[in-house]
Formats: sequence, C-alpha cells, structure tokens
Amino acid sequence: MKRIRIEGGHKLQGTIRISGAKNSAVALVPASLLSDEVVKIDNIPNISDIDALNEILMYLGAKVTRTGELMTIDSSSIINKEIPEEISKKLRASYYFMSSLLGKYKHVEMYFPGGCAIGARPIDQTLKGYRALGATVKEEGNRFTIDADELHGAEVYLDMPSVGATVNTILVAVKAKGETVIENAAKEPEIVNVATFLNNMGAKITGAGTSTIRITGVDYLGSCFTEVIPDRIEAGTYMIAGALMGENLRIENIITEHVDSLINKLKEMGVSIKEERDAVEITAVEKMKGVRVKTLGYPGFPTDLQQPLTTLLTQCTGTSTLEETIYENRFQNVPYLVNMGADIKIDGKKIRIQGPNPLIGSNVVATDLRAGACLVLAGLKAEGETTIDNVEHVLRGYENIIEKLTNVGAKIVLEEI
Ligand code: EPU
Repeated sequence: MKRIRIEGGHKLQGTIRISGAKNSAVALVPASLLSDEVVKIDNIPNISDIDALNEILMYLGAKVTRTGELMTIDSSSIINKEIPEEISKKLRASYYFMSSLLGKYKHVEMYFPGGCAIGARPIDQTLKGYRALGATVKEEGNRFTIDADELHGAEVYLDMPSVGATVNTILVAVKAKGETVIENAAKEPEIVNVATFLNNMGAKITGAGTSTIRITGVDYLGSCFTEVIPDRIEAGTYMIAGALMGENLRIENIITEHVDSLINKLKEMGVSIKEERDAVEITAVEKMKGVRVKTLGYPGFPTDLQQPLTTLLTQCTGTSTLEETIYENRFQNVPYLVNMGADIKIDGKKIRIQGPNPLIGSNVVATDLRAGACLVLAGLKAEGETTIDNVEHVLRGYENIIEKLTNVGAKIVLEEI
C-alpha cells in the first residue's frame, strides 16, 4: 500500500509541465492494434494505467518499446486470445481492446472492464454500437463473447454522449464495410485525438469533436505517428492548486481552450489568472467568492475536476453548490474534507459548501483517482500534516505528482506502508 504525506501551508511557486492526457493515451494504445504496421505514439504519460495496458499488449504478443515518452507498438503478429479478468478489471480502458480486437478480427472474448468505483458505469451503449454494426454479443456473467460474420456501417444513436461508447463505436467502425454515423457522440478532445490517430493510419473519420461523427470503413490501416494531447484534468488539478497556494504558479504545455470551463469558474471566484496560448499563471488571492457549478460533457465543466474543485470551494466565501450529473457516486471525498474542517452537505446529486473554513491536516483515504487528487489539494492547503492512504488510485492518473509538486515548493512524500 502506498501513502502520501503532506506538510500543508507551503506556497507553490515555479513551473509545472503538464503530461500527456491519461484518457487519450488509454484509448490510443488499444487503438494501435487496428494497424497492421508499426505505430508510434509520443507524449505517453508514465502512469500505472498505461503499464496495465502495456501488460495487455504484451499478453497479446505485440512488440512494444517505450523510450521516455515515446511508445512504439508493432501488433502485426498478435494473437487474438481471451484477455483474462485479472487484467481487464484493472482499468476501464481495457474495453477499448475489446473494440479494437472486434474491429480487426470480428471476434473477441473479454471480461467486464474495471475503473474507479464512482457509479454503475454500464457498457450498454458500447454493446448497442457493436450490435448495430452486425455483431452478436453473448454475455455470461462478467464475460463477453462477441462475433460478427461481417461488420457493416450503421447509424448509432447514443442515449447519452458517452466517451467510452463513442470511442468504442469508432474503433469497430473504422474497418467495417460502408458508413457508420454516430449521433449524440461525446465531444471530448480525447475523442478528437483518437480520430486523428486513426486517420493518420488511413481511417476515414470526420466530425470528431462534434455530436455527429461519420466513419467510412477502410480495408487496411498502416503505420503512423501521433502525439497525446496535454492532460486537461491534470492541468485543471494543478490550476486549482495554484488558486489555493500559488504565487505566480505557472502551468505549461496546456491547450487553454480545453480548460476554459475551469478558467471561467476561477475568474468568477476572483482568482488571479494570466493566460497565454499554452500556459497559465495563477496566484492565490485573499478572498474568493462562492460559485455554482454543474458537471457536463465537454465543453461543460468536467466531472473529473468536480472533486478537486470541491477543495477550492471550501475556501470561498458564502455558499457554493456543485451538481454532479454524470456519476451517481462521486462524493466519496466529501466526508474526508469534512473531517479536515470543511462545511459540506450532500443533498442527492448536489453538494452545498459553506465557506471559508480552515482545513486541518488529517488521516484520509483516496477512494478513487479524483477523490485522491481532491485530498492532495486539501493537504497542500491544510494546517499541519495530512496523510492519504490508498494513493495507488492517484498514481494511476497523475504522472510524477510528487516530483511535480515538490519542484514548486510543496512538502510532499510518497511512502510504502
Ligand atoms: N453510461 C451508460 N452506458 C454506457 C456508457 C456510459 O449509462 O454504455 C453512463 C455512465 O454510467 C456515466 C455516463 O454515461 O454515468 C458517462 O460515462 P462515459 O462513458 O462518458 O464515461 P467513460 O468513458 O467510462 C471517461 C473517462 C472518465 C470520465 C468520463 C466522462 C476514460 C478511461 N475515462 O469514462 O474518466 O469521467 O469519460 O468524461 O476515458 C477519470 O479520469 O477519473 C475518469 C473517471
């Protein structure tokens, strides 16, 4: 078990460079299997979710090399065999392999994917996409066997703009015969990154980033090179750290447009932000104003920043409300913030935060990735020492978080317990 120990109250000054986006990289790596040649992906973050996907690639027989941030994948001689449950349940993104293998071989056997326990997270929309494109899905408990004599284009209307179902449908459609149209598609930048990667291989995808995506199937996908986009959630987390403790804290290597919803909320609170094309500089202010926030699909306020933002809202004057519309169980960080001194009430899908309240160092637990990020932020602000257990969750998604924060003045260490 791993624990993070933080001595709070230290100003953050200097520069944090943002890594490649977890939620892009975890889709690009499985998507690489669709190519019959060598593909190269740069700016791959060094996080444990990528290690888990690497394990699946190696298990299937792909040849993988990682040199710094560059990953080279040759899957020309992989074997399409069942991916064991112990590996697939390590992370949500394992089901992108299900789609790549189905798209390439028209047959796949796999188990239900894992992922943070933040709600039910069904995969019905992905399965709906598979069926629309001509596959039959056999479900035995957690295990899926999916087959198709032929995959053909179809119109797929998603009941909700699911990121996973959008990516999965694209992965199956790129080699299917004819045209697939995904309606009510998710518009997240990570989807654009995946579509660009596949187009670089020779796929024909248009409309990624809008709610209608069109894919014309092709027979062959070849070699290509792509770069993972900067992680907007990692960037947002450090921007919130800046609003809490920053003194000209510079966050660089970002696409500011991708964090617009956060920048606007921070400005509404009265936080001091200097914006450049690919960087922001943030300084904490004496007094911040409470705000109302509602999570939505992109370009709305991201659910993945909802928990980190809660820490900041405890420092704002007046009542703030935060409504979570994507997941049913994404407030597990709240009781720990309350232990640290916050005044937060949960009311169904909403929380009400009354502030400002000083945070006091405490022993807390990371129940999931972004809850962990929220508690790291609380530890940076709190008076005294905070220990956070179960931080394996945090290391799944934040590259070098200890080094990045230490370099800007935080007193933070990782311990093995
Ligand atoms: N949903 C369904 N049926 C489906 C698919 C989704 O009911 O078939 C529901 C989910 O239960 C959820 C909502 O739709 O309530 C949105 O789910 P979505 O499919 O968009 O989420 P995801 O693809 O499983 C990705 C990210 C999440 C991020 C969401 C929303 C990856 C690997 N994960 O999840 O990231 O919260 O999109 O933006 O890309 C994180 O990084 O901490 C994280 C959880």
